[in-house]
Amino acid sequence: MNAMNSPLRRRALILSVLAFSALSSACSNFTSRQPPIWVWTDMKQQEKYKPQAESAFFADGRTSRRPLEGTIAQETYRPDSAYSTGITEAGLYVARSPEPITADLLQRGQQRYNIYCAPCHDRTGAGRGIVPSKAIWVPGNLHDERIVAFVDGEFFHVISNGRRSMPGYAKQISEQDRWAIVAYIRALQRAWQGNLNDVPAELQAKVR
Ligand code: HEC
Repeated sequence: MNAMNSPLRRRALILSVLAFSALSSACSNFTSRQPPIWVWTDMKQQEKYKPQAESAFFADGRTSRRPLEGTIAQETYRPDSAYSTGITEAGLYVARSPEPITADLLQRGQQRYNIYCAPCHDRTGAGRGIVPSKAIWVPGNLHDERIVAFVDGEFFHVISNGRRSMPGYAKQISEQDRWAIVAYIRALQRAWQGNLNDVPAELQAKVR
């Protein structure tokens, strides 16, 4: 008797559990003018203050708190605007990079340049990257006399905001990395102007 009954009973139990869970999860999906029946509220109901509501917790009775005195929005925080724009207060391009030139900075600049600039300007800066080889688009040659004569801040400005058909990279490249790229462009330009006398004597034979 028992042996015959128990599979039936088990099936009934499973069915009722399934029906209950289907019902309870479906309750919140019915369209109805009645307030929903929450079986499991998850995080749909929680203790909170709504904007402009009253609160007995604070002495002034407001739930909305004012920012602490001296608070500055992150987006407008500019401790040194020449550093982050490449332009001085007088409206001139910064003459020399504010980042001290170190081997680490140059290496970082090389890495970032090869990622962000080389696709168009190529790894030497001559402007024959993969992008212009596929599209009618002429990147500047970073060894042009006109461009070599730029002060550091003008490079920073072009990298940040773009110029004519070149897009700006302020969103992708951090300020410090932009200055690192400027330093590396200087190294590329110096290398371009180099001649055999710049090579250490013991290596000159190898270069020839
Ligand atoms: C998607 C292609 C592309 C990338 C990537 C790119 N550039 Fe350019 N760049 C150009 C083009 C095109 C010009 C020429 C703009 C013009 O004269 O219309 C240019 C011009 C320039 C100039 C000369 C501006 C002038 O006054 O003539 C500089 C400097 C420069 N780019 C630096 C960079 C640096 C540094 C990077 C990397 C952060 C970079 N570019 C990334 C396409 C690119």
